[in-house]
Amino acid sequence: MTEAELIMARADELATHSSRTDGIERVYLSFEHARVNALAAKWMTEAGMATWQDAAGNQCGRLEGREPGLPALVLASHLDTVPLAGRYDGILGVLSAIAVAARLRSEELPFAVEVVAFGDEEGTRFGTTLLGSRAFAGSWNRDWEELTDEHGISLGQAAEDFGLDDIALAARDPESLVGYLELHIEQGPRLEDAGRALGVVTSIAAARRLSITLTGEARHCATPWELRHDALLGASEAILAIERIARASGSPATVGHIQVQPDAVNVIPGEAEFSLDLRDETAAGRDATWELISAELHRIAADRGLALDVRQTHVAPEVVCAPELRDVIRSGIRSTGDAEPLELFSIAGHDAMAVAAITEVAMMFVRCKGGISHHADESVMVEDVALGVDALHAAVLARAGRDL
Ligand code: HGY
Ligand code: MN
Ligand code: MN
Repeated sequence: MTEAELIMARADELATHSSRTDGIERVYLSFEHARVNALAAKWMTEAGMATWQDAAGNQCGRLEGREPGLPALVLASHLDTVPLAGRYDGILGVLSAIAVAARLRSEELPFAVEVVAFGDEEGTRFGTTLLGSRAFAGSWNRDWEELTDEHGISLGQAAEDFGLDDIALAARDPESLVGYLELHIEQGPRLEDAGRALGVVTSIAAARRLSITLTGEARHCATPWELRHDALLGASEAILAIERIARASGSPATVGHIQVQPDAVNVIPGEAEFSLDLRDETAAGRDATWELISAELHRIAADRGLALDVRQTHVAPEVVCAPELRDVIRSGIRSTGDAEPLELFSIAGHDAMAVAAITEVAMMFVRCKGGISHHADESVMVEDVALGVDALHAAVLARAGRDL
């Protein structure tokens, strides 16, 4: 079995650790999270790394440099998933990083190499995202420990059940790091359209997540039209307005969740709550689009006699990848025979956004079939996986001032 085939086989093994039988779902501080941490620790050990689970439940491994205790270059991504996920989002980056570490075990590098498998990039369980990497970056917010999952279990309780004492203790000293590289599937069609296996990420989009609630009057379905204040009709008009405004301004916007109360076929919905995930290449562009959307939400609410409540659950500025680290990613890709690596900005969010708070970051994208992600049809070619490991390995050596 080749190194790339082993990565594909390991991705298949990780995919079996799911909380549901109809697809892949693995969330932060779950039984499945513990199982895949143990697997990653086993593979890190086999790669020659010392391993530990940090205070936030991130699985870590470390290869010393030419002398013990040197600051580390971190190679990382995440092992958690969205519901009904694919098997490569985050996972490919972790497995490729472990493969590169195995290649480096006899190198005498001017820095240590650490691999980190973050436990919560998606935010599936508690609604706010990048929890593992924000703890790692020293950005932990104690308020998050009050967040509850769909069963009413608080993050603080889940952390205690997982065996964690104080997540905030995961904060790394910026002086202990020399930089951060993340390999990730593109989750879009641009590399495939350009016939490229790999790409250099220039920046990662600014993002906001909001919970929007419209409140009207729950009434019998016999209520005449002119007396209705239907929250679901208001939400429906709002969601189509979001599509119109966001498409016109070029800001990716997604409403992925909606729920109504009292949720009965013969009752006019008195309340409708829906999510909004809004992004743009810059925070200014994101916020300009939000201002237009917000004004339209207020107009719709006023016209329909509804109350409007907006709660922000996540906000992140755009992150520009460090030029010097982009150069080593570029040279890594060139070492695979691609003389002019494609540069592209990431609409998808990544752990690199959080880690940028304490060290320089850069990312490499790997082509994925049809750009499909966050779906069971997510797939990569084993040949591209092999090129990704070669490029990441070469990038680490380039960062050390070495050639392959
Ligand atoms: O939402 C994202 O872009 C990432 O997959 N968490
Ligand atoms: Mn994802
Ligand atoms: Mn991801």
